Amino acid sequence: MSPPLELREITVRFGGLTALDGVSLTVEESSIAGLIGPNGAGKTTLFDSIAGIVTPVSGRVRLFGTDVTDWPPYRRARLGVGRTFQRLELFGSMTVLENLVMAAESRGSGAGLITDLLALPPTVEGRARAEAKARETLEALGITDYERSLASDLPLGVSRLVELGRALCTDPKLLLLDEPSSGLRGDESRRLADTLRQLRGDGISILVVEHDMSFVLGLCSQVTVLDFGRLLAEGPPDAIRVNPTVQAAYLGDEIEAPAPKRARKAPAKRKAPTKKKAPAKKVSARKATRARAPRG
Ligand SMILES: Nc1ncnc2c1ncn2[C@@H]1O[C@H](COP(=O)(O)OP(=O)(O)OP(=O)(O)O)[C@@H](O)[C@H]1O
Ligand SMILES: [Mg+2]
Repeated sequence: MSPPLELREITVRFGGLTALDGVSLTVEESSIAGLIGPNGAGKTTLFDSIAGIVTPVSGRVRLFGTDVTDWPPYRRARLGVGRTFQRLELFGSMTVLENLVMAAESRGSGAGLITDLLALPPTVEGRARAEAKARETLEALGITDYERSLASDLPLGVSRLVELGRALCTDPKLLLLDEPSSGLRGDESRRLADTLRQLRGDGISILVVEHDMSFVLGLCSQVTVLDFGRLLAEGPPDAIRVNPTVQAAYLGDEIEAPAPKRARKAPAKRKAPTKKKAPAKKVSARKATRARAPRG
């Protein structure tokens, strides 16, 4: 069977800046793959190329064996691609339930093609189906207590779960998660990792971008490393952890997993190369945003 996602030699340019430079990546069925790399490496741009938000100047995107390189975003989404965003994209003035119902309805009302094409209001049955899906998802994520809360009033950890819930309401077969554990406490991160393992068990394939190395290396079966838009390394977590090129890209930050218990994540700063390295277990690899010289 064809893999859910195959990227071949994707190159994306923004003016003179090459954000992705011939990147290839495959996500196998029912697997959790990780995508890591310093700030500005091109991770979100890669997601945008998969979703159809940005158009590569060269390369091909295949979803479930179909070449979708020339497809618009909505057609790709309908193949079963769900996504969460690095910056949360919830509708703040709507309740949690309403956010999820809207996502469930965006999958198609279930009332037929004509109704969907004419964007007619959902039927009573269609709305009931969407609400049932939304409630079932809230329950699976353990956030039913927040059903009636405004999305703008939520703690960050819950917001991230609602964002995940919104993606799940579209019945995805492939999930793209952009920094899902960013800002979460250690216990919230661990619970999220368990949820993602459960989704994989349900047959959903996942590609996750994350700066929290222990999260990625403990969760993913395959990890791809980007740096300055180029593929730096790929392989199983154990190989990535000790890969000297990856270590060098993170300027000597030790990459170890699993994570020790730790408090709310703070963005780690790029270490000054001259500084003596602390012996503490290093789990995060976020660098300060780097200036990039335009490349041709
Ligand atoms: N719409 C855009 N227009 C111009 N440049 C862009 C655009 N989107 C991204 N870039 C640039 O492309 C490069 C890759 O950005 P991208 O957001 O994909 O990185 P990232 O790996 O997701 O970084 P982070 O870890 O900070 O989220 C960066 O240099 C960024 O400034
Ligand atoms: Mg990003």
